[in-house]
Amino acid sequence: MASPLSATHKETEFMSRKILVTSALPYANGSIHLGHLVEYIQTDIWVRFQKLRGHQCTYVCADDAHGTAIMLKAEQNGISPEGQIANIKAEHEKDFSDFQIAFDNFHSTHSPENQELSGLIYQRLVENGHIATRTITQAYDPEKELFLADRYIKGTCPKCKSPDQYGDNCEVCGATYSPTDLIDAKSVISGATPIQKDSEHFFFKLPEFSEFLHNWTRAGHLQSEMANKLAEWLDAGLQEWDISRDAPYFGFEIPGQTGKYFYVWLDAPIGYIASFKNFCENQDKNTQGLNWEDYWLDDNSGDPKLNNGTELYHFIGKDIVNFHALFWPAMLHSAKFRTPTAVNVHGFLMVNGSKMSKSRGTFINARTYLNHLKPDYLRYYFAAKLSNGVDDLDLNLDDFIQRVNSDLVGKVINIASRTARFIQKSGGSLGSTIENEALWQQCVSAGETIAALYEGREFAKAMREIMNLADAANEYIAAKEPWTLAKVEGNEQVVVDICTQALNMFRAIATYLKPVLPVLVANAEAFLNEELDWANDIQFKTNHSINKFKPLLGRVEKDQVDAIVEDSKEELNAMNQAENQANDAQTSDSELAKEPLAPEIDFNAFAQTDLRVARIVKAAHVKGADKLLQLTLDLGGETRNVFSGIKSAYKPEDLEGKLTIMVANLAPRKMKFGLSEGMVLAAGPGGKEIYLLEPHSGATPGMRVM
Ligand code: MSP
Ligand code: ZN
Repeated sequence: MASPLSATHKETEFMSRKILVTSALPYANGSIHLGHLVEYIQTDIWVRFQKLRGHQCTYVCADDAHGTAIMLKAEQNGISPEGQIANIKAEHEKDFSDFQIAFDNFHSTHSPENQELSGLIYQRLVENGHIATRTITQAYDPEKELFLADRYIKGTCPKCKSPDQYGDNCEVCGATYSPTDLIDAKSVISGATPIQKDSEHFFFKLPEFSEFLHNWTRAGHLQSEMANKLAEWLDAGLQEWDISRDAPYFGFEIPGQTGKYFYVWLDAPIGYIASFKNFCENQDKNTQGLNWEDYWLDDNSGDPKLNNGTELYHFIGKDIVNFHALFWPAMLHSAKFRTPTAVNVHGFLMVNGSKMSKSRGTFINARTYLNHLKPDYLRYYFAAKLSNGVDDLDLNLDDFIQRVNSDLVGKVINIASRTARFIQKSGGSLGSTIENEALWQQCVSAGETIAALYEGREFAKAMREIMNLADAANEYIAAKEPWTLAKVEGNEQVVVDICTQALNMFRAIATYLKPVLPVLVANAEAFLNEELDWANDIQFKTNHSINKFKPLLGRVEKDQVDAIVEDSKEELNAMNQAENQANDAQTSDSELAKEPLAPEIDFNAFAQTDLRVARIVKAAHVKGADKLLQLTLDLGGETRNVFSGIKSAYKPEDLEGKLTIMVANLAPRKMKFGLSEGMVLAAGPGGKEIYLLEPHSGATPGMRVM
C-alpha cells in the first residue's frame, strides 16, 4: 500500500480532543449475543469515527467478573471462579475482535487496579460520612449457608397459588410480594427451606445526593427521555443503597471487615477506571503519554464536561441507567472524582419484532452469527437502525438481507465494480481532471453533515446521507454509460475522466463508511492503493495508480440467515441436554448429590410409565440438526417416529436392527423437524458415551418391561 496521506492539520483551527469512551462491562457468566452487540457496535463506530477525525480517543472495557451468579456458575462447571472468568474472558475477547470491536484495553473487574481503586473510593465515602451500617433480615439457605437474593427463592404464589414462582413476583398473576409470603418457599440452589437470618450491611447514603443529582441529571449529561425518567425516581425519593454482601461471595472483601464483600455493582463501574489505569500503565509512555488521573480526578474547575480538557462518555443499555446516572455520579462526586461528560443510553434489540427468543432461534450468540456471516453486515444494519434515542431497535431478518444487499452490494460496491475495469484497461491510473465539479462538491460538503450526524450518534441518518451520495454516483454512471462510450475509438480519455469521477465519489463514500465497515473499507483501501483519511475535507485524487478490483463483499444469502436461526435453536437443545445431564450426574453421585431429588411420587404415578421394547428399523440423519437422529421404531406391529439426541454416540447404520427400550405412552411432541412420538431410553455421560439399554435376549418388540 502507498504511504498514507499525511494529515495536513491547520493547527490553529484543529483542536484534537482527549476522549475516553466505555461500553458497559459484560457479565463473565455468559456469551456475547446480538443484543450486547448493539452496544459494542454503536460504541465502536463512534470511537472509530473520533479516531478517524484525528482525535485522541481511547476505548476501554472489561469483564464484569464478580457476584453470586458467577460463583454459582463456576461451581456448576466444577472450576474455580478465577478459572471461570478466565475462560469467559478469552471467549469474549475473541468474539469482540472478530466483530471488529477495537478496544484499546479489555480488562477485568477482578484485577489489582480495581481492588485498589474500589478500596480508595470506598474509603473516601466512609470519610465523608456517606456510608451507613445497619442490621437487616434476609432469607438464608441453611444447607448451602448462603443469603438468598429473591431470584434464588421459588415457591407457590400466595395469591393465585401457581407453583414454581420466584421470590419477588408471580409470572402467572403478576402479584408482587416478599419471599416470606411465598407458600412452601425453597432455595433454588439447594432445595432447602430458607430461614430468616440477620446480618450487618453497609449502605451508601444516596438520599444525601438528591439535590446534586437533581441538578446533574438536568445539566446536559443525559438524553432528555432519560432525564425525565430519572426525575420520576428523584421525585419519588431516593433510598439508601445496599453495597455489601455476606460471604460466600466472589468479589472484593470490604477493607477492614471480614466476611463482608462489595456488592458487584459497587466495583463494576470502578472497573472503567481500573481498565483505563491498566492501559495507561502498560502503554509506551513515549508515544501515548496518557495519564489516568487527567481523565478521572476532579480538576475542581466546576465543569464536569471538560475536566483537565478531557471528556468521558459511557455507552449503556436502558436497563442499567439507575446505576450509571444516579449511584455512579453520586459516588464519584463524593470521592472527588470527575463525573461523566455524558451517559449515552440505547434501547434493546428485538428480532423480527419480538424479544429475542431461544425457542424461535432468535436469541443469537455472536459466535453463531460469525460462523455464517461477516461482521460488516450486522455492523451496517445496526448503524442503519441506530438513532441517539432510547427506542428499541428491530433486527428484521428479511429486511436485514434486503437492506445490506441493496445498500452495500447494490449501491456502494457497484460504483467501483462498474468503473474500475476501464481505468485498468487504460493503464491503471486515475485521470487528471474533475469531470463534474458540482457533483464532487456535493460529496465534499456532505462530509460535514455526515460528521455532525456521527458525532451526535445519529447513525441511521448518516447512513441515509451516505446512500444518497451512492445513489448520485450510480445515477451519474448510468447517465454517462462509460461501457457504451468505451466501444467507440477515441473516447479513452473521456471514459477515464468519468471513471475517475466515479471512483473519487467511491473514495469519499468509503471514507464516510470507514467507522462502520472496517473490513470492507480495508479491502477498498487495498484496491484504491491508499489509506483513507478523514481528518480534513476529502481531496479529489488524480494521476494515482489503483489496483485491480476484486469483489469487496459478497451478498448475504437467505440460507446463511436460516442456518444462524437453526443453529441457535440447536444450541438451546444442546444446552438443555447438557444441563439435564449435569443434573443427572450430580444426583447419581451420592458424595456430590447436593441437587435435591424431585418430589416423591407414589407407585401409581410410576406405574403409569409404559416402557416397551422397540426395534430400531431405520435411523437417519436429520437435515440441519447436529445432535439428532430420526429413528423409526417397531413396537411389534405399530411404528413410531422418534427424534433422539444420540448422534454423538452412534452412526445411524450401527443402530439399525438394534433393540432398545422406549417410553411408549409419552404424549407426542412437536419438534421443529417433525412430530416425536415417544422417547428412547439412553444413559451415560454424553458425547460418545450414551448407551442404549440393551434388553436381554429373548426380548421382542412391543413387550412391556414396566
Ligand atoms: N455487567 C453489567 C454492566 C456493568 S457496567 C459497569 C451488565 N452486563 S450485561 O452483560 O448484562 O449487559 C452489558 C450491556 O449490554 C448493557 O449495557 C446492556 O444494556 C446491554 N444489553 C444486554 N442485552 C441487550 C439487548 N438485548 N439489547 C440491547 N442491549 C443489551 O449489565
Ligand atoms: Zn400468582
